[in-house]
Order: sequence, then C-alpha cells, then structure tokens
Amino acid sequence: MPNRAKIAIIGAGAVGAACAYACMLRRVPAELIMVDVVESTLEGQVLDLSDANFLTPMQVSKGTNKEAGQCNVIIITAGVKQRDANEPRSELIMTHDMQLIERNYKVLKSIIDGMQPIRKDAILMLVSNPVDVLAFLAHKISGLPHSQVIGSGTFLDSMRLRGILAHQLGMSENALHCYVMGEHGDRQFVGWSSASVGCVRLCDHPAMRGVDLDAIEQQVMRKAYDIIERKGATCFGIGACVASLCDTILNDLRDVRPISCWSEEHQCYVSRPAVVGLDGVHAILDLVLNEKEQERLNKAVQSIQASCQTCDK
Ligand code: 2OP
Repeated sequence: MPNRAKIAIIGAGAVGAACAYACMLRRVPAELIMVDVVESTLEGQVLDLSDANFLTPMQVSKGTNKEAGQCNVIIITAGVKQRDANEPRSELIMTHDMQLIERNYKVLKSIIDGMQPIRKDAILMLVSNPVDVLAFLAHKISGLPHSQVIGSGTFLDSMRLRGILAHQLGMSENALHCYVMGEHGDRQFVGWSSASVGCVRLCDHPAMRGVDLDAIEQQVMRKAYDIIERKGATCFGIGACVASLCDTILNDLRDVRPISCWSEEHQCYVSRPAVVGLDGVHAILDLVLNEKEQERLNKAVQSIQASCQTCDK
C-alpha cells in the first residue's frame, strides 16, 4: 500500500457522497478529497461526512482537480445523469442529441485536463454513465495506460445478481462465483455457463432446478430502473462497490472483479472479470462463454463501439 494513500472523488452529488461514506465506513486506508464545481454543495457534503469521523480514521476534505491528479485513486462521479427511469443508461449517448455526447466529453475533458499532470501510477475510475463509453474517453484524455483506467462496469450488477441467488440458495453470497458481463446497461448478460456455487456448477445445483434464469437476469438488469422510478437515482450500491474497489486497489488484493476494462480484441471498454490490484487491471481472465453468451457479448460490444465511434469524431 502506498504511504499516506489518497483518494479523490470528483462530483459531490449523491453518488460521490455515497462513495465517500462507504469508503469511510469500510475504513479504506487513505485520505479522501472531494471536488465539485458547486462550492456550497461540496462544503456541505464535506461537513456532513466529517460527522461520521467518530466511526473511522478516514479524513475527508475538499480539494481541487489539480490536487486530485496527485491522488492514488481518482474516482469520477460527475457527468451527465440518467434522466428518468425509462431512459436506458447505455443509450443516453445514442438516443439523444449529439450535443449530449459533446457535453459528456467536455465535462470529462475539463475535469481531467484540470488534473494534469496526473501522477503516473494513478488509477482513474469512472463511475458516471454510460460508464463504458466514459472510460474510453477518459483513457484518451488522461494519457494513462489502459490498465490504469477502469469503469465500475457490471460490478454492481454482479452484486445484485449474487444477492438474488444467495437468497434462492439460502447460502452466503461469498459462496457464489457468477458474473454479469458486457455493458453496464441493457446489453448486459449473466455468464450462467461458468457460474458456480462452491465447486459445483450453479445450474446443476438442486435449488436451481426450475428457476427462470431469464427472469433473474431481467430483475438484475431492471433494478437500477426500479430504484430510479421510486427515488430518482441510485447511490448506495455503487458507493459500496467503489469502496470495495478502492480497498482492492490500495491493498493490492488482486480480487477478481467484473469491471469495465479495455479489451484489445474489441478495441473498447467492456465489463469482464479482471484481477484488480495496485496497478489497476493486473490481468483479465479468459472468458468461458457458450454460444448464446458469446452472441450477447458481441451485441454489447457493438453497442459500446458505436457510441465510442460517435464520440471519437
Ligand atoms: C446503477 O446501476 C444507475 O448505474 C446505476 O445503479
């Protein structure tokens, strides 16, 4: 772990604050700075978070983009938001005016340019949606190696999946190895063929007999919409995922996490299980997919590539 590790969270809205709060309660071994263009919100969040200090040694203060550029992990939660429950996360860029793409790009560019020179070993973590496309843009703008630019991707979706399955099986979530992959959006899919519980193939487990896998997949995919419909946005789940990722990175844990990472084969960012450590994406696991899953990965990749190409012009 680096001496006096530092984390920066860019964007002090609900998601940024939830990420900060989760890092604090998880006691991620680092100092935290938060950055936002709206000074009053930023000050309010920092003051509010400081009230949780009696539970954690993690100190939070406000900072600038320039200071964020010197942090070990830089988390970007700022950007264009999903507007309503029926607006697909992944299609924000494709279904809306081209200006939206420009805005996305401009926001990211001004944030990342303001951080330069970014420390060479920083890990840049994109959280804002559409996360796969923003990770692609952030890599281009930042000049960091692909392995150091990641997106939270389908980590949250995978945790949602594990929660449902753990309930179905009456077992700990830790006993389950199953991943949602592809796009963090409507073209995500579950790698059922490689899913396991302990050392048993998940689909062969007696408790899974007769279970409608498509219905579970839909439930996972719809969960963000279900939350947004009711309260306007999601924040706690992603906060927990970000805190877990920060812990994995700063403690060099080399956990396997389904995150959005660069695929040389597909020339885009897409979620697959990756080994995560202090150097970011330390390795990517070879995918074991059946024909149907492979087709779904291809569809996810096509969708992400199309958005990236639009942005790249
Ligand atoms: C989520 O999946 C909307 O990406 C956000 O909760």
